[in-house]
Amino acid sequence: MTARELKKKYLEFFKKKGHTVIPSASLVPEHDPTVLFTTAGMHPLVPFLLGEPHPAGKRLVNVQKSFRTDDIDDVGDPWHNTFFEMLGNWSLGDYWKREAIEWSLEFLTRELGLDPNRVHVTVFGGDKEIPGVKEDTESIEIWKGLGIPEKKIYKLGKKDNWWGPVGATGPCGPDTEMFYDTGGPEHGENCQPGETCGKYAEIWNDVFMEFNKTTGGKYEPLKQKNVDTGMGVERTVAILQGKDNVYDTEIFTPIMEKIKSLSKSWNDVGGRIIADHLRASVFLISDGVKASNVERGYILRRLVRRAIRYGKQLEIPGVFTKEVAQVVVDNYKDDYSDLEKNSETINNELLSEEERFETVLDEGLKKSQKVFDKKVPVEDRKYKRVMQTLGKREVFREVYNSKTEKEGSAYLKKIKAPLTYDELKKATVSGKEAFDLYQTFGFPIEMIIELAQAKNLFVDVASLQQEVKRHQEVSRAAGKKFAGGLADHSDITIREHTATHLLHQALRDVLGNSVHQIGSNITPERIRFDFSHSEKLTEKQIKQVEDIVNSMIKEDLSVKKELMTQPEADKAGAIGLFREKYADKVSIYKIGDYSIEYCGGPHVGHTGQVGKFKIIKGEALGAGQRRIRAVLNSV
Ligand code: ALA
Repeated sequence: MTARELKKKYLEFFKKKGHTVIPSASLVPEHDPTVLFTTAGMHPLVPFLLGEPHPAGKRLVNVQKSFRTDDIDDVGDPWHNTFFEMLGNWSLGDYWKREAIEWSLEFLTRELGLDPNRVHVTVFGGDKEIPGVKEDTESIEIWKGLGIPEKKIYKLGKKDNWWGPVGATGPCGPDTEMFYDTGGPEHGENCQPGETCGKYAEIWNDVFMEFNKTTGGKYEPLKQKNVDTGMGVERTVAILQGKDNVYDTEIFTPIMEKIKSLSKSWNDVGGRIIADHLRASVFLISDGVKASNVERGYILRRLVRRAIRYGKQLEIPGVFTKEVAQVVVDNYKDDYSDLEKNSETINNELLSEEERFETVLDEGLKKSQKVFDKKVPVEDRKYKRVMQTLGKREVFREVYNSKTEKEGSAYLKKIKAPLTYDELKKATVSGKEAFDLYQTFGFPIEMIIELAQAKNLFVDVASLQQEVKRHQEVSRAAGKKFAGGLADHSDITIREHTATHLLHQALRDVLGNSVHQIGSNITPERIRFDFSHSEKLTEKQIKQVEDIVNSMIKEDLSVKKELMTQPEADKAGAIGLFREKYADKVSIYKIGDYSIEYCGGPHVGHTGQVGKFKIIKGEALGAGQRRIRAVLNSV
């Protein structure tokens, strides 16, 4: 069964069970500043899991583009991907555990033809960290009733059988996961689902989202009991095809073939990393991400540069990313028409990142040469011996960490290193030096290590890792400021969202109806709004826009959601980015008689709740595009 057949079967199956197919949301969460990317199908559905009625009803199904940054470093192994497609079905306060579990098993065995005797499941067995929630006996009974013997039902804790929330707060709950016995050998005594022995492949997760994690860290019952399920397309297809890794399925083989054809020195891991990273980059760029040094842009940069770096390892000459990207676009264009539409943007972005990286690479090579020049290389024969016999880089952790020269020397003696403490120190690039190269020039860490090794030098990898970690903690701490966005319907972002609609209309009033929204992004700190307009706004125009928005706020207009057909919405003059259509209705928001816009919400009830609006900056984005940043003062 191909990926395309699997997706089709899944949607058809749940359609028959009364579900409405909804489109995949963008990889860039539209109004949720707490998370960089859409990580699961439930993510765009958070407001609806919290109780807002969904225009398409209470039973939904889709294929969602997803991206998980956490998995970047695992890519190269058989199963991990950064970008993947996720099949999901949802009950928004409708069916509950019995239907969810029954349908899961029915789909796996009858539709996909998996052997029920090889299905194992895990369920939530209770956990100290969530004292109010007991073992999920209901799910256990349902599985038993369906013929899964007790010995194949494993009760695990929060780490394995609890899912969500996506950010710090929001919908979450216990889950039950389905595993398939691949027939592989038992490795070790703890070989069971949830362990890493590789015998049991995880295929599907049914989450029973009946709790809301609050800002205070409590788990409170939600208004409604929801079901949220997720099945990864890449992994499931590999299992169905009897493959032992996702890269051997038709999802990846054309991409891998292309890379192989360009490469003069092939290895699987490098090929997989390039394939995964460029596939992900294509989808990210198509959803509007541009390479930069912050947030989403930084992740994209990391992916592209890592792919290029492995391209060098595989001896791929010249620029190559767009050739690989083209294969990805061709593969997916029937499912995601945007890809072909955006293929020029994709090519340009990849090419310019590739060119930028070349410059950085030159600069980085020069700077690293300067660092290396200060070191004293170890004589060839000795270096080889150290690298061969002493297990490469980690071995010196003890020496580097030792407080005194005496301790360090003693350790070197103990492991019979053919080096004195002094020789080692003089041949070592410190963690800080390596981190500076990485930080200032975006110079990949693996590359620094390899270059050092080519010169018979060492890198203090242990303290380099510490530097990286310290840096990540700092950025994470900075990121925490943003906690509490729409995931918990935080007030400020909802107010900003309503202000964005007023701003959009006000810009059209002042600058004319050729103004169209290109994008928007909201954090608790500010509103960012991108729109089409070729000239710089004058001070007078900015003031006019501000005044209009503030007068609409003062009028305390009501904000109302309505469902209508698209022709009706167009006739009513709805503006904005039309993205989603549920069944035959679209969702629009009206602010008094002033604004009508395509939107899924949420919004405040009255404009009086918005607060005072102020534009803080206007800037040019590119040809014919401008950006405005604005803030709200509290009500
Ligand atoms: N949201 C759940 C997951 O991603 C289904 O596993």
